[in-house]
Amino acid sequence: MSNTVLVGLQWGDEGKGKIIDFLTETSDVVVRFQGGNNAGHTVEVGDEKFVLHLVPSGILRPEAVCVIGNGVVVNPVSLCEEIEGLRARGIDVEGRLEVSTRCQLIFEYHCLQDQVFEGKLGDSKIGTTKRGIGPAYADKVNRVGLRGALLCKPALLEERFRKQAAFYNAIFQEAGEPVMDIDAEWEKVRPAAEMLAPFVKDTVLTVNRAAKAGKEVLFEGAQGMWLDVDFGTYPFVTSSNTTSGAACTGGGLAPCRIDHVVGVAKAYTTRVGRGPFPTELDDETGEFLRSEGGEYGATTGRPRRCGWFDAVATRYSAMLNGVTGIAFTKMDVLDSFETIKVCTAYELDGKTITDMPSDNDDIERVKPIYEEVPGWQESTEGIRDYDDLPVRAKEYLTYLSDLLEAKPSIISVGPRRSQTFVLS
Ligand code: GDP
Ligand code: IMO
Ligand code: MG
Repeated sequence: MSNTVLVGLQWGDEGKGKIIDFLTETSDVVVRFQGGNNAGHTVEVGDEKFVLHLVPSGILRPEAVCVIGNGVVVNPVSLCEEIEGLRARGIDVEGRLEVSTRCQLIFEYHCLQDQVFEGKLGDSKIGTTKRGIGPAYADKVNRVGLRGALLCKPALLEERFRKQAAFYNAIFQEAGEPVMDIDAEWEKVRPAAEMLAPFVKDTVLTVNRAAKAGKEVLFEGAQGMWLDVDFGTYPFVTSSNTTSGAACTGGGLAPCRIDHVVGVAKAYTTRVGRGPFPTELDDETGEFLRSEGGEYGATTGRPRRCGWFDAVATRYSAMLNGVTGIAFTKMDVLDSFETIKVCTAYELDGKTITDMPSDNDDIERVKPIYEEVPGWQESTEGIRDYDDLPVRAKEYLTYLSDLLEAKPSIISVGPRRSQTFVLS
């Protein structure tokens, strides 16, 4: 029995949801530990496609218990909508979903702040999902946030919500920005809190009891390494730690209890929102990757920026996350290429470097240095076993793994559950 953390190794949208769903076949508990409904995790089961934002992607396996941990920022109104959407499609969350008493709540005043801040930043804006993620984490650290436990105490929730909302309304007014209709918002929050109250638990107990009983716990990361608030391309990042260590602080399990770290990496690279992206392709190849890979945001619908695989950034990521295995996704998207480029070094100020710089101003200036490898020019989407992959596809995987100094453990050749296989 073992506990596994799964994280994205690039800029998000690596296919984490799909791999979580695959791994949940043998897991008992799936835990989201950071981020909020900025995430969009897609899972295809049969002919049905689900996009999960807050509910862990394990929910589509009927046996799994799904936990929204203390490190998550939860918009109660959005979570209710997501639960209703799942129920309408026959997915029962009753008795299987838990929301931490310690998670931070997102309200409309956070979303308004997100919008106002982005507007004021002008050309320097981050390109956030406008889901209020940054302002909610800011309230947490500023010690004025409202936590999950309040969902079970309506009178106290109302008092604190109104107080905080009035505080921000005064600031909006002062800044000449539109203010929030507090009564109208409360009328959305009140029924949402009522619906969510039965799900609210001390999830630290759930997670630790499961681990102690020898059950398998799977931690579902959101976003990706380069969006981590400490290690990513700051300030063009999200507002949480997206790296593997956050599973402990945001999920409530001690580091010594983590056995594996699966890092998910696409066979190429994408990014949504602003910020540096050294291997970005602003040409026909980039356009091809976007259309062939269906690279449009699962949360905002924005076209994703696309480019070649960046082994410099991803090696750093594999190191920092301590990956014990890599899940390579979207191999099939590269099926038709005659040759494939991989960035193996950068040029910075006339020098060749092979480690990712730690300062964003430097990352903005690096130029990718590519090696070119032959493509396999065969369809992989029907392949179900590593041994059946075209020789050049295997060579590509070995090449990437050598560059990343990490072993491949899972390969994905399409969006469906069945299009996934494990390497022994
Ligand atoms: P996440 O945020 O990391 O969970 O990833 P997203 O769901 O935002 O984006 C990944 C997209 O790629 C989704 O539309 C998935 O259905 C799709 N996908 C996942 N794995 C594969 C794969 O191996 N091949 C192809 N063609 N699509 C995939
Ligand atoms: P999943 O879990 C890709 C990006 C936004 C923006 C930056 C900050 O589906 O991989 P935020 O709203 O978090 O303050 O926005 O982070 N971003 C994501 N990009 N996938 C995600 O999640 C993302 N969540 C946030 O586009 O650049
Ligand atoms: Mg996504």
